[in-house]
This record gives sequence, structure tokens and C-alpha cells, in this order.
Amino acid sequence: MADSTQAADEQDEYSEDKIAVHWREEEYVPPPERYREQANAGDESILERFKPENFPDCFVEYAEMLDWDQRWDQIVDTSNPPFFKWWAGGRLNACVNCVDRHLESRADEDAIVWVPELEEDETLRITYGELHRRVNEFAALLRDFCAVKPQDRVTFHLPMVVDLPVAMLACARLGVIHSQVFGGFSGVACGQRMGDAQSTILVTIDAYYRNGELIDHKVKADEAVEAARKEGIEVEKILVFRRIPGEYHSQSEMVDGRDYFVDEVLEDYQGQEVEPESMNAEDTLFLMYTSGTTGRPKGAQHSIGGYLSYVTGTSKYYQDIHPEDTYWCFADIGWITGHSYIVYGPLALGTTTVMYEGVPTYPDAGRPWRIAEQLGVDIFHTAPTTIRMLRKVGADEPGKYDYDFKTMTTVGEPIEPDVWRWYWKVVGKGEAAITDTWWMTETGGFLGSTLPFLQPMKPGSCGPACLGIQLVIFDENGQEIPQGSGKAGYICVRNPWPGRMQTVWGQDERFIDTYYKRFNQDPNSQDWRDWPFLCGDGAVQAEDGYFRILGRIDDVINVAGHRLGTKELESAAIEVEEVAEAAAVPVVDETRGKVVEMYVAVKPGYEGSQDVAQKVAAQIEKDIGKIARPKNVWIVPDMPKTRSGKIMRRVIAGISNFTEVGDISTLANPDVVEKIKDQVYSAKKERGEDVQQLSKQQQEEIAKYGEGSE
Ligand code: WTA
Repeated sequence: MADSTQAADEQDEYSEDKIAVHWREEEYVPPPERYREQANAGDESILERFKPENFPDCFVEYAEMLDWDQRWDQIVDTSNPPFFKWWAGGRLNACVNCVDRHLESRADEDAIVWVPELEEDETLRITYGELHRRVNEFAALLRDFCAVKPQDRVTFHLPMVVDLPVAMLACARLGVIHSQVFGGFSGVACGQRMGDAQSTILVTIDAYYRNGELIDHKVKADEAVEAARKEGIEVEKILVFRRIPGEYHSQSEMVDGRDYFVDEVLEDYQGQEVEPESMNAEDTLFLMYTSGTTGRPKGAQHSIGGYLSYVTGTSKYYQDIHPEDTYWCFADIGWITGHSYIVYGPLALGTTTVMYEGVPTYPDAGRPWRIAEQLGVDIFHTAPTTIRMLRKVGADEPGKYDYDFKTMTTVGEPIEPDVWRWYWKVVGKGEAAITDTWWMTETGGFLGSTLPFLQPMKPGSCGPACLGIQLVIFDENGQEIPQGSGKAGYICVRNPWPGRMQTVWGQDERFIDTYYKRFNQDPNSQDWRDWPFLCGDGAVQAEDGYFRILGRIDDVINVAGHRLGTKELESAAIEVEEVAEAAAVPVVDETRGKVVEMYVAVKPGYEGSQDVAQKVAAQIEKDIGKIARPKNVWIVPDMPKTRSGKIMRRVIAGISNFTEVGDISTLANPDVVEKIKDQVYSAKKERGEDVQQLSKQQQEEIAKYGEGSE
């Protein structure tokens, strides 16, 4: 009971020196003993099997967790770096591995349990048998009604409904590449991704529940069609699921000859079975668009064999999934976490995976714990943002429910030790192992974490490198920082691993430039050791080999675990007619980790009114989505700029966070800094947005923000 008050007290006591203490290396927390016996990774021999000397053979253990039509000839073909090819010569089907192969033993067991947001609505239980039926019927529809061929791209713009994994697996069955766009993204963002993927079929839904309201989603499809057209792609078919059977809840009209209700078309495919395509291991399973430093989001292209083996192996060892577990990953399938650790990993292991439609706190902060209790969830997986939010609104809620977690995962952002402790003590009741899993869209699966019943946990550190992964930190000059030195640098993966994306869809050069150029010394080298993969984060490694992740080194703002590119935000803002220039900066936020603030200068002859600020916020929401909506839009007389005309984002980031603005001697217009400071400080005080205490780590991050683009 005392925890919430205690946490609040601790917060109030923060001062400069306490913050420094707060961020020192923490003490170990031992893994719970009671589950060790049953653990998939229960004894030390596993560390031996995966030691660096055993690369690449160690990963055979992961591949052997799958069923293959034909075994590979070569574990990994490294002859053309950095385009490493895993399980070369092997053939398999991802859908067979996630569905068909479990039918013999688990046809009547639940594969997916879907919890609708409205508590009075019925929870849907889909057995493996039922999943098989649904996937086959939808695959038949895609093949015959939409005429898709293996390796064509089909785009989904779906929320958390069962139709989403069904559609993914149907594509996998046909060898078709799916590209799911996060449901919360705008229609424009969806259409642009369709353009990039050259995808002419869109799968969507009329509406879905969010915070108790039925939200119109089909309207976004019309915007997507327009946006795709601008990219030269004509959307041919839109398949529309209906959230409530037989009803239609959208303002958008169904267009004759283009839009079809899935339930109506499916009538022609009832009971049909589709022969799964036997695919090359190196064929592509899906695209997942993500943001980086420059330009538009890029399509991270993931393979069938490599990816599926990696997510299956890591699900088994790091989340300790057994078929009889009830596993709940509280993420959205629209992100990589959902692909890897709601759908592919858990289903490949034949377990029961839970999906929840709505927001964590609907109708109250006890909801997640009620779901856990009712469904008997024993493995729980969520993000720091959700943990912070649930603590804030209901610190004592978990204690009221009778559930029993054995492992709990966190992912997406660094978790503050203090938040970690609440998760461990209150949510896990001090009896569950926490795996803080660090990785990214590009890597397919976990890179750094602890094995839940083997390695001690350390709050604030993700843990050592995952099995078979060789992590290395470089300094600015490309020198390797000695292991365990506690010095910050750029964290990279030295060796190839099966989960890594194959390339940026359609842009091999961009793939090399983004992930390899920085630390590759010899572009002609055929030795994989010369090709360290740049993860995009800053990190330090402690003496014990554990890593602490310091955040993105590129201009990406991580809002509640969602990667937003500075450039995307800024391009949206300058679409507003009055806007001459725009800059996006991160502001540290108590619950969401970071939020976005925009600085905008208007064109000569225009008035910088509140109206312009509104338009900028609306445009960002239109182009990207609600999650990107800025907290504040500041209309400023001029941007702080270098003599060569580049906006110094770190200066305004400092102002937005009430921290030091740093050296401004190289500015062409240093006097503007004080003006902006006065304006922003006074407005923030008026709005009650007070000075926050930032950790040293956060201060450093803000002080360096935007360096990549200066
Ligand atoms: C951050 C999400 C600290 C990191 C799987 C990374 C984390 C970015 C952690 C990738 C963690 C992810 N601790 N930071 N456990 N997990 N991150 O592509 O900055 O959406 O680069 O993939 O999230 O975000 P993405």
C-alpha cells in the first residue's frame, strides 16, 4: 500500500546529487528460484552453447525449433557483406510453423484469446483448429479474389483485432509479404507506405474501440488512396472487416468495385483449404516501416527463415514460453514487438497468446490486472510508458487481483530503476523475473536482456548481450571502447544474426549507409568481422558485462516507445502555408518518456498567430498520426542558426526542457536565444508546465539533440 506514497516522496526528494546516485549502477536482484526447474533456459550449459566461438553453429538450435520442408545447405552465407543470408538453401512456410504443425496436439487449445475493450463484451477464444480455418479461408480470398502471388505486397491498416494476425498468417501461407501500418497512424502515412511498397491492396476495418468510443477507421482508407496516388500507386481493392458483425460504423462510403466487406466475400471461400507455399528461407515475410535520421520512413524487410528462427528461439529462452502458458504481450501488433512477440514467436511455440483491443486504463486502472486474473496470464509483457501510466493512476491496483506472473518483459525505452522496482515489487509481487529486452525494428528480436531464471536482474540495465549476439561499443572515432569500461559510445552488433532485417525495402544503398557505413573500415572486405551493425543507440557497458541503454543517437524522438523522425515532423509542419521553417525537439515527460515540441517561424508577410500553431498540430496529426501531436507549438521570430544556416536544435531543446542551452558562440543570431527563452518560459509557467528535474543522462541527451543534422 505504501508504494505509491513512497514513490512520490522519493520523487520530491530528488536533487542534483541524488540524481547522480539514482543513476549509478544498481544492485543485482536475484532471479526467482521457484521457476528454475521448469525453465527453458534453466542451466548454465546454454551460455556455453552460445559462446562467441560457437558462432554461427549456435543458431542451429533456433532453426531446429522450426519445421522445414527442406533443410538448409549453409547456416549463413557471408560472402556478400552486409547481405548475410541465413539458412541458405532451406525451405519452409511460416504459417505452417505457427498453425498447422500444432494441430495434431493442440487443435482444441486456444491459440489466440482476444479481449475486446468493452468489458461487458465477450472474450473471443480462437483455438488452433479455428485459427487454421480462418487463415485458410482468408488466404483463399487473397489468392483468388485479389489474385496475389508469392512475394507481392499487401498492406494492412488494422487495429488490435483478431483479423490482423489471421491476415498476417494468410499472407505467410501464400508467401505474400505483408506490411502492417500501425492503426493509430494516419491515412496519409498508410498511403505513403503503400506507395513505397508498391502495394495495391489494402486491408482495413470500419471502426474499433478506443477509450470506450467506436472510432471511425475506414475514413483513413480514403486518405490512404489519395496519398498512394501521389506516389504513383492506384489502390485496386480495399478489403473491409467489420468490427461489429453485420453493422457498418463509418462515415466513409463503400466505393463500388473497389471496397468490399470481407465477411461478404468470404462466403465464397468457406471451408476452403490452401496449400502452403514452400518458400526459400531468404524470401521475405514482411515489411515494417520505421523512422530514422533522414527522409521518409524506411521499410525494414524481414526474412522468413532467419526472422522466424530468431523470434522463436528468443521467445522460448527469454520469455520462457511453453505451450501450456498463457502469454500476454500488451503491445500493438502494428509495431515490431507485436509481430515478433504477439504473433510469430509465441504461435511458433504453440502457446496461447492474448490480444487486448483497447487502452490500458479503460475503464479503470485495474483492467490489465483483471484480464490477467481472469485469463490466468502467467507471462506478461509491456512497455515502460504503460508501466509508468499504470503506476500513476493505480499504484495499488495490482495488489487487488489474484494473478501469478512468472516472467514480465519490458521493451521500447529505458526503464527508470524506480519504475522497475514498482513493476517488480507491486506488479510481479516480488516473485516474477523481469526481462528488460533491448532491441529495435531492424533487429527482428532481442539483442540485450537477462535469461529470466539464470541471470540476475539489474534495474536500469537491460542485461548482457543475448545468446549468440556479440555487442561492441565504439567511440566517435571508430575505436572500440574496452569492454566493461563504463564509457559511453555507439553500440553495435559485431556478428551477423538470423533476426536482422535483410535490407531497406528497395534501397540496398540506404541499408549500408544507415547501418554499416559508420564503423565499416573496408567496404570491400568479405569478412563479417569488418561489418559491425550500428544499432542507433548510445550505451555503456559495466564491468559485469551488463549494458545500460542511453537512448537514440539519431534525430529520433521516442514518444511512449514510438519512434518519430524529426524530419517527418518538420516536413509536416512546413506543409502549412504560413510556415517558413520548423524544428522538432523532444521534451522529457513523466509518463510518456518524451513528447514533441515544435518551433515554427512564419513566412514574411504572415502573422504568427495561435491559428498557425493549431494548423501545425493538425497537419502533423494528419500526416503521421495522433501520437505525434506536439505538446506545444512555439511560433518564434527566428530559429537559432549556425552561420551556415542550420537550425541548432539542441538550443531550443534546452529551452523546452529548462536545461542549459550550451555553447551559442557559433550562432549567427545569438540574441534570438534570449527572446525565445523569455517567450517559452513564461508561456510554460502560465500553462503550469514546470521545471522538471532531469537525470544527468537525460540532460546529456538533450544537450546533444540534433547534432546529427547540424
Ligand atoms: C529503444 C522497439 C532502452 C531504443 C523494440 C531503440 C530501448 C528503440 C529498449 C527501438 C530497452 C527499445 N531499453 N531502450 N529495453 N528497447 N529501446 O524500433 O532507443 O520501435 O533504438 O523497436 O527503442 O524502437 P523500435
